[in-house]
Amino acid sequence: MERLDKILAGTGRWSRREAQELIRSGRVTVDGAVCLRREDKFPEDACFQVDGEVISGEKFTYLMLNKPAGLVSATDDPRERTVLELLPGHLRRVGLFPAGRLDKDTVGLLLLTNDGALAHALLSPKKHVDKVYYVEVEGLWETEDQAVFRRGMTLADGYQCLPADLEPTGPDRALVTLREGKYHQIKRMCAARGKPVKFLKRLRFGPLVLDEGLEPGAWRPLTPEEVEALRQAESGESGSPGESR
Ligand code: URA
Repeated sequence: MERLDKILAGTGRWSRREAQELIRSGRVTVDGAVCLRREDKFPEDACFQVDGEVISGEKFTYLMLNKPAGLVSATDDPRERTVLELLPGHLRRVGLFPAGRLDKDTVGLLLLTNDGALAHALLSPKKHVDKVYYVEVEGLWETEDQAVFRRGMTLADGYQCLPADLEPTGPDRALVTLREGKYHQIKRMCAARGKPVKFLKRLRFGPLVLDEGLEPGAWRPLTPEEVEALRQAESGESGSPGESR
């Protein structure tokens, strides 16, 4: 059970003060009845409506961002612009953070959430959640490259990578699937093959597929099906709301 103002503010759509104002002015119903007391407590699965629109009482927020180049995947940084700066004010106050990092010059799918337990589980090295990237390199693929990725390569610092998939889509571009997420991993893997990365974009994170309708810098909330698919990926079951490659 949670206070009504807290439930509304927890959606990230309103500040606590704005939620209290909505309640006070009679615009909020719970299971069909107007509730005027912000301190009244309700279960999360009650039916909350604001001006007739059904609002999810879920306490966590999950956003898909199409990260543009030039921003860092952090909540704050003394020198750089962060991905959080792309969000409106009320969404910067609900404790969102990027679940996993993309380099400053990497673009594409980034999950922002305040569900620490889910993010932690998805990023756990034990889970091996697939991440799919589109990569363009300097140089041309050689026949050996695919087999070396598949075997699991050893990087310059001695790190032994898990097996990864390299599917060339052109002489100097490919889809790469990783089952781990080490620092600069794709750049280091391609560099180890003598092919520095020119462009890198994440297309998939577990069951989440980048919504190509999102312009760089744009975001949208995950659908309930996408959140459920993430939970299943986290618990080790399979499930994909988008196409699987
Ligand atoms: N691998 C990289 O080298 N950089 C990223 O941002 C993601 C994967």
